[in-house]
Amino acid sequence: MLETLVDQYRWAAAITPPEVPSRSAVLIAGMGGSGISGDVAAAVASDTPVFVHKGYRLPRWAARLRPLVIGVSYSGNTEETRSVVDDALEAGLDVAVVAGGGRLGALAVERDLPNIPVPTGLQPRAAFGYLSGAVLRLLEAAGYVAETGLDEAATVVSTLLGTAMDGPAVALADDLAGALRGRIVVVLAGQGVPAVAAYRWKTQINENAKASAFHSVLPEADHNEIVGWSTWGSATRNWVGVVALRDRHEPDHLAARFDPTLEQLAQGASVAGEVWAQGSSPLAHLASLAVVGDLVSLALARDAGVDPVPVEAIETLKQRLTEQP
Ligand code: F6R
Repeated sequence: MLETLVDQYRWAAAITPPEVPSRSAVLIAGMGGSGISGDVAAAVASDTPVFVHKGYRLPRWAARLRPLVIGVSYSGNTEETRSVVDDALEAGLDVAVVAGGGRLGALAVERDLPNIPVPTGLQPRAAFGYLSGAVLRLLEAAGYVAETGLDEAATVVSTLLGTAMDGPAVALADDLAGALRGRIVVVLAGQGVPAVAAYRWKTQINENAKASAFHSVLPEADHNEIVGWSTWGSATRNWVGVVALRDRHEPDHLAARFDPTLEQLAQGASVAGEVWAQGSSPLAHLASLAVVGDLVSLALARDAGVDPVPVEAIETLKQRLTEQP
């Protein structure tokens, strides 16, 4: 599943993006493994108002604010994303597309929309580098981002994985997976770039290891979740494992929260360890944290004897919904 990740970042760095108009805001629509590219873009392009929309229909405010709308769907057929794009075209907004084909890819060609077709044949979540990279290149083309960080992300992830999957991230992920085996995983991170990586960890453990996982973001978690680890602590301590994602660039007020929060959490969960971001650009930080989560999810799948690739529950649900009258 990670064989092409480094090449995906390189592919995105090398493409020539289409011309894209600059508007006062950007709305990125997408679900699941495609939608997370919006979260990546929002965290990296933090000087720009980027709104990520994971659901049906154009939000009502968009007709007034008139953002650039970017529809992202690897299959090109996800109904929520298509409904946003249809509404945006209907409202006369500027729309760009990132898709691996499907109906959204066909619509982009038919309507001559700025479009980055991504290479196909993967599970959407395994196309993380293509999708995030393509969205960032669109933001760069529109003038929102001066430097995407894609080249650095490729270099950092390549070093972490090693030439024969023998890099430092692989050993770290195996250790963490050992501590998390049989447990519900909670991934704790600070707001911004690390929080997006934590969400990627959660979804990768869900889909690859077919296991429960949740993410928790500081400082917000210190205002509610932190209270919830005591009452059933003696039970949950055996069943919940926590990983903290850290970033040397995290501001002091966030850094100061980790130790006390983890101490509180330890009442009801076992702390498996910390992972530190690598590189210097925001994207390299995000990619370096995310790739360890990818590896942990694959190690957990291996330990549990499950095939990480198919996501039958998602396919079955999509099928049932299309069959509804
Ligand atoms: C499957 C996956 C899912 C899909 C989601 C939306 O690997 O990660 O979360 O990404 O169901 O489908 P697409 O990406 O085709 O729009």
